Amino acid sequence: MFRMCFVCLGNICRSPTAEGIMLHAIAQAGLSTAFAVESAGTADYHVGEWPDRRSLAAAKQRGVTLPSRARQWLAEDFRRFDLVLAMDSDNHAALLRIAPDDEARAKVRLLRSFDSAVAPDAAVPDPYYGGIEDFEHVLDLCEAAARGLLARLAV
Ligand code: 4NP
Repeated sequence: MFRMCFVCLGNICRSPTAEGIMLHAIAQAGLSTAFAVESAGTADYHVGEWPDRRSLAAAKQRGVTLPSRARQWLAEDFRRFDLVLAMDSDNHAALLRIAPDDEARAKVRLLRSFDSAVAPDAAVPDPYYGGIEDFEHVLDLCEAAARGLLARLAV
């Protein structure tokens, strides 16, 4: 079982969206027994909450469910995952600050670095203060990156 965790700031918009999309792509590929997928936030503001209603609605329109409640990423989580996928450079930097050692640091990547059509430092922008179109955009970006990620992992 290969374990991955998507990480944003609040764990109510971007990372639960990426988690739901990746779970959906893995199920469609018939690979659900091979991968474990979770998400977390570097901040604790929304711990225990379901994803933002706008994220839930935009995902539902594409047949994607967002199954988990918000939790905060903790240093000990590095032991539980093989790959940690940050949504943007701030969260990438926060993860590297929390990482206890080189082994942990080596597990951290930017999610969109798996989208070969964009620059490796591309971000999934925070939609929290935006409109529904910003949530749609997050879905588009996560879908493209998830395709690249699954293609890389499912070899
Ligand atoms: P996320 O979006 O990091 O994609 O879950 C945010 C959610 C909440 C806040 C910021 C970003 N906030 O400041 O409360």
